[in-house]
Amino acid sequence: MENTTGTIRLGSENFEFPIIEGTEGEKALDTRTLRAKSGCITFDEGYGNTGSCISDITFINGEKGILRHRGYAIEELAKHSSFLETAMLVIYGSLPQKSCLSAFRKQVRESASIHTGMHSHFDGFPTSAHPMAILSSMLNSLGAYYPKMSSNNREQDLAYFDETAALLISKVRTIAAMTYRMKMGLSFVHPAEKRYTENFLHMMFSEPYSEYDDKHGAGKALDLFLMLHADHEQNCSTSTVRMVASGGANLFASVSAGVCALWGPSHGGANMAVIKMLEEIHAAGDDGSKFIEAAKKGEAKLMGFGHRVYKNYDPRAKILGKSAEGILSSIGMNDPLLDIARKLEQAALEDEYFVSRKLYPNVDFYSGIILKAIGIPVEMFTVMFAIGRMPGWIANWKEIAENPKSRIHRPRQIYSGETQRDYVQLVDR
Ligand code: ACO
Repeated sequence: MENTTGTIRLGSENFEFPIIEGTEGEKALDTRTLRAKSGCITFDEGYGNTGSCISDITFINGEKGILRHRGYAIEELAKHSSFLETAMLVIYGSLPQKSCLSAFRKQVRESASIHTGMHSHFDGFPTSAHPMAILSSMLNSLGAYYPKMSSNNREQDLAYFDETAALLISKVRTIAAMTYRMKMGLSFVHPAEKRYTENFLHMMFSEPYSEYDDKHGAGKALDLFLMLHADHEQNCSTSTVRMVASGGANLFASVSAGVCALWGPSHGGANMAVIKMLEEIHAAGDDGSKFIEAAKKGEAKLMGFGHRVYKNYDPRAKILGKSAEGILSSIGMNDPLLDIARKLEQAALEDEYFVSRKLYPNVDFYSGIILKAIGIPVEMFTVMFAIGRMPGWIANWKEIAENPKSRIHRPRQIYSGETQRDYVQLVDR
């Protein structure tokens, strides 16, 4: 990395700081010594201008719509790779050799079952519980069944890292399927000797009297969906995972926190919100134009549009838009929601309001249509995102845990409350 310097002038004093440059030419003023030197801190609510870490995992150029994992373009990965191979790439840094990939697949396959002690945890939830609440609780509980892997002793947790990573990638899928079955009042289906997504669909939809038959290629579409969600640098949930990891917490606890952060509608919850929005537009007999007008007046939000980083088309949305058409035509399904989505997209891409604000479809815009076509209930959509994002969370935890210089993440604040005042006795208030 080439280092030059930059200067901040505060009053009459100049303070010089190094400029850090990333491998893709991104520059950052390294202000870590600013407070010590000047007594001043930077204020960046929402962290739009703050680099919280140096990372080797994922590169995004939001202006150009570029997404690369470990140097490989998402379009190339979508064309040639699989979810588990991309997971290994994201976590370990390079495309795996055939034997390593086979060993990883085997380890994931053999880690699929959930300890029977955990089956009873599902009984404790009401069927109305949100699947994301169940998922975060279950992932954290899982750590209790593997105390050696969740010691909160970095050296020990890292010694078990490979095992824990494969276990989490495998079991998050089993927990998701069990959650669905519990909510539907159906008995659990044991994992089988199948590939990753086929096994998931089997655990979701097989019955003792009829094995799930993937005749429309749902497993393949789901594999692509998961791969496209594998990592996305310092988004809200990944930053949360890093934050929790920075305190020394184990991988189970850290990814459980990631699930909670993902849940909200401004982040992973947007994939549920998109389908709800499209259904409401459809039910109201609108072709999307009234909704666009409401969004422009600030009366509605076009869910699945806009992104903190992308000021161009999200490359994942482009791939998923095509995939949505593919899976619908394979099923022979004509979903009016896809037509509304296409109309909304077209209108938004031409409308001054969206164009001037650089609001483009994001990954969530088409993903719900694919998940719906596969038969995944809307309430499970964000859980599907979490399954896909697991490799990214794991890779980011690893980066923190392996860095001997990593410090606890602890931002500062500008205090705006009352200044010191005297306590008033209850009788005198
Ligand atoms: N519909 C209508 N207007 C929008 C939208 C939208 N989806 N998104 C942003 N805007 C407008 C804002 O009102 C604002 O307008 P103004 O300048 O007149 O005030 C302008 O565009 C800039 O928006 P910000 O809120 O400043 O953008 P920010 O970077 O803070 O938010 C976010 C990004 C949260 C993704 C936002 O665009 C949004 O809420 N989108 C809808 C939810 C969604 O799809 N989330 C998924 C994101 S991707 C992911 O997490 C996987």
